Amino acid sequence: MGNGWDRSAQAWIDSMGERGDWAREHVLDPVMLGRVGKGRFERALDVGCGEGRFCRMLKAAGVNATGIDPTRRLLETAKRRDPSGDYRPGRAEQLEFDAASFDLVVSYLTLVDIADFRTAIGEMARVLKPDGTLLIANLSGFSSAGAEQGWVTDDEGRRLHYPVDRYLDEFPFWFEWADIRIENWHRPLTAYMAAFLANGLNLTFFAEPEPVSGEPSRQANFRRAPWFVVMEWQRPANA
Ligand SMILES: C[S@@+](CC[C@H](N)C(=O)[O-])C[C@H]1O[C@@H](n2cnc3c(N)ncnc32)[C@H](O)[C@@H]1O
Repeated sequence: MGNGWDRSAQAWIDSMGERGDWAREHVLDPVMLGRVGKGRFERALDVGCGEGRFCRMLKAAGVNATGIDPTRRLLETAKRRDPSGDYRPGRAEQLEFDAASFDLVVSYLTLVDIADFRTAIGEMARVLKPDGTLLIANLSGFSSAGAEQGWVTDDEGRRLHYPVDRYLDEFPFWFEWADIRIENWHRPLTAYMAAFLANGLNLTFFAEPEPVSGEPSRQANFRRAPWFVVMEWQRPANA
């Protein structure tokens, strides 16, 4: 794959550990797990499951989870960490499942990794049962619009502001940290919303989540620029 994931897989596994990175632990997991709840869902598909962390969390919440991912090394780690789990090679743009197979489909920070996100969203909607839920965590467009440049700092390295540029365009950029180098895509929120709406889905939850724990200085940075959006889209019962 030319988007850096094969080369970055081991560094990603090392940086995630068992608990995930700071943002997952303190910002995203609380809201994502809150939406999953207890007893709300039976069968879930985690699209772009990586090394399987959220599948394991789904399982702990009593949900029968299948994870798919195109990066072989991540899937091998998922399987090793959860030998009884269902992990399969696959890509979001062509899901190898029948229509209406799952009552929950999850995309946990994967839409920015997928070049043809419109086809991917169409596939996620297709495999959802009527009344099923598509749970999305994604990089905010305000964040991805400035990610290439990063924080604007003063001469002493103090953060002045986070830049937003070319917001209404769609473009790929390379993201690098801790030996990880991957291609992500910036798109305005409008582009994502239009794709969900085009598949007949209804928005039932929206959040720009804030940290609920962690060091105060890191929490403060998360309040300065919105990093993430979490959305829940529902397939109508009669569709
Ligand atoms: C930022 S990681 C997120 C992994 C996991 N969901 C998590 O939160 O830890 C993005 C994942 O998307 C996967 N990915 C890249 N291209 C994909 C595609 N076309 N379809 C499905 N997953 C893809 C990568 O292999 C990687 O595991």
